Amino acid sequence: MAGKEHLIRQEIILTNEGEFVLTLAEEDLSSVYPRLKRYTLTLEKKGDILAVFRTNTYEYSPLDPLKAKAALDRKAEIWSESLRGDTREFLSGIVQRRSTPPPAGAEPEVVIIQGSPRGDGNSSIMAAWAMEEASGLERTVKVIYPHDMAISPCIGCYQCYNTGTCTFADEMAETIDDVRKCRLLVVCTPVYTNTVPGGLKVLIDRFQAYHAERTIAPHEDGRPTYGVLLAVAGRNGQENFTCVQKVIGPFMRNIGIEPRGEILVDGTDELGDIRRVPGLKDRVKVLIRGLI
Ligand SMILES: Cc1cc2nc3c(=O)[nH]c(=O)nc-3n(C[C@H](O)[C@H](O)[C@H](O)COP(=O)(O)O)c2cc1C
Repeated sequence: MAGKEHLIRQEIILTNEGEFVLTLAEEDLSSVYPRLKRYTLTLEKKGDILAVFRTNTYEYSPLDPLKAKAALDRKAEIWSESLRGDTREFLSGIVQRRSTPPPAGAEPEVVIIQGSPRGDGNSSIMAAWAMEEASGLERTVKVIYPHDMAISPCIGCYQCYNTGTCTFADEMAETIDDVRKCRLLVVCTPVYTNTVPGGLKVLIDRFQAYHAERTIAPHEDGRPTYGVLLAVAGRNGQENFTCVQKVIGPFMRNIGIEPRGEILVDGTDELGDIRRVPGLKDRVKVLIRGLI
């Protein structure tokens, strides 16, 4: 149950990349829990939301010196300073929270699934690099955020093998349609408990309906569709990706997508920010470029 949102303040930042608006807002959710407030920081450019940061008062335990409003203010300060500094560098780490949909009638040629719940984490940075490269090559790109989608988990009813469609009518139909039409699918994901995060797994399982559709009515795809995996793991060692590879590879092959490359960055717990890995951005871009 969402409460009414109140504007705290807005900041307009003029940069050589254009005008950006930072909005700080507060929502009273005391109807949910006593004293619960949610704070939202939004970064916009020309009405497009580029990034969102959220925090709430219940996140901070009594002995925690940091509080929600202070965390919001600090984040706004960091974004503001970063925008005024090297704007491009800052933006390259932020994949558009809601990607601009391809123009009407145009199908996305590249679909990027950003599988981390963190909108400005390491997977998001890799997704942003992939998007930058594909957009630079004038491909229509769509970014999908499983954690923002209202989709039900697959219930294993197998009705899709009768009809070729899922029993649930939700946002998955559009996602399947996007992937059906694209020529390159990029899956970006962190390792969570040795596998992919829950939201991404729900999305992957729901692709069973597309597998059913292809099984019931086999068709030639014409051009192949390629798949790329970009993954990050907190621990050191490439073995941390074993299960992720075993999830993503079969997922792609099940729906007729040929896996063509992967970049697996381990040790992010110590590293913190994958932008510190020398040459990584170029490796991602070269991989994407080679498949477009
Ligand atoms: C719930 C959870 C489970 C995780 N499990 C693992 C794991 O099993 N192995 C590992 O190497 N890292 C694990 N990590 C660390 C993340 O993979 C790592 O912090 C990663 O950089 C986060 O990516 P993101 O910034 O794209 O969200 C886990 C993190 C979370 C939050």
